Amino acid sequence: MATASSSKLSQNSIASQPHAWSFHDNVAALPFSFAIICLLSVFTLLYNKTSTGVYSSSARWNNVSFIVFQEPDWTLLHKCVEQYRTQNLRLLQTLSQGLDILLHNQELTNLDRITCRVQNRIDRLSKIFDQDQDILQRQLFVPFDTTYVLPDGEPTISTNAFPSRAVDHSYDDPHQVVAHIVRDWTAEGKQIRRQLYDWCLSKIDKPGLRILVPGAGMGRLAWELARNKHAWVEALESSVGMAAAAASILQRKQSGMIHPFSSDQFSNEVNSSHRYLRVQYPDVDDVEIFEGHLSYTVADFLSLNSVLGNNQSQLDAVVTCFFLDTATNVLEYIAMITKLLKPKGGMWVNVGPLQWHQKSLIRLSADELYSLIEEVGFKIMEWGVDVAPIEYRSSDKLVRSTHYDAYCPLRFVAVLD
Ligand SMILES: C[S@@+](CC[C@H](N)C(=O)[O-])C[C@H]1O[C@@H](n2cnc3c(N)ncnc32)[C@H](O)[C@@H]1O
Repeated sequence: MATASSSKLSQNSIASQPHAWSFHDNVAALPFSFAIICLLSVFTLLYNKTSTGVYSSSARWNNVSFIVFQEPDWTLLHKCVEQYRTQNLRLLQTLSQGLDILLHNQELTNLDRITCRVQNRIDRLSKIFDQDQDILQRQLFVPFDTTYVLPDGEPTISTNAFPSRAVDHSYDDPHQVVAHIVRDWTAEGKQIRRQLYDWCLSKIDKPGLRILVPGAGMGRLAWELARNKHAWVEALESSVGMAAAAASILQRKQSGMIHPFSSDQFSNEVNSSHRYLRVQYPDVDDVEIFEGHLSYTVADFLSLNSVLGNNQSQLDAVVTCFFLDTATNVLEYIAMITKLLKPKGGMWVNVGPLQWHQKSLIRLSADELYSLIEEVGFKIMEWGVDVAPIEYRSSDKLVRSTHYDAYCPLRFVAVLD
């Protein structure tokens, strides 16, 4: 509960770590007002105000802080890994049933080779599952250091009520998290990132912009905006599982190996050995950000309403990548984006499909979305749907599957007019 007049750090905060910025330096360095209406500065300001970091004028070190409004449900991480284990056991059981049929078959003879192959597959997969579960338990799905910001503790924020929304845990699933690690932090995901993230980056034409990336997943796009475009970036993500894995890479700077294809369905497989591929993460030597700034907030996008109250924020850009179609009510997302951006010139960059999630109430087509965005006050500067499909997880040259799964993303740039 918020009791003090200033925000607090949680017990597992990173307050003792040195920090390259002091509160006063931030005030001087930023070319905009520190009014509470600027969401990004709220987060950054609160963080710096509450940290007892030592200012060093020569330090360029800039760690990524993970911000929460409420203590995450850490037990969820354990539950998700347990679920993952159960699902993998089921996969092994499916294979064992097949092996039984082979061993007891009476219709065909000389099945030794295939029987042996299926047995090997079970042995190999069971080892791989153990290894991956171990890395999930020790590294990716563990509680991370949080900066606990209580916006209601700030005198200038009027509301302390966070709406209780139905929580969607589908992205907490370790299979999802591992798929996003491949997409964001491995060499196997590079081609996808260059097709999607490079395009977003190309829309940011000057340094120092304040950018929000909602639905940030494993954080690579937000990180690249901060690191390559020297922007002040807030990644925002509702999944604690995603955030935990992102913290492993961005906060604790850990690396490891995983087998992202091991739990794929036993359907459409082209070559049984393709599922054993092991990938290394991250694909970069260091994750330091030297000129820009990145922090990562673990919250529902729409809960920002509670932070802003009736105020208009002043962000330069909101970048949505494979996020818009996660909306239950896309009108709420668009209203939020409008509220976050500078009313004159705030830019919305979007790339992603319109694969409306199951819970979506309004399922607009691209042309309907165009009308809506224009109607609410954006000037559309660029608009188009890709002709060539882009895969989601990995785009290596292997033909893994007899089924092709990919998206032709809608890309647009819209500016508040
Ligand atoms: C399809 S994934 C895309 C992740 C990332 N942008 C990427 O391109 O790899 C959608 C992400 O949005 C997050 N998400 C969905 N609804 C959200 C919400 N209301 N607030 C914040 N994040 C949300 C999910 O947890 C998930 O990580």
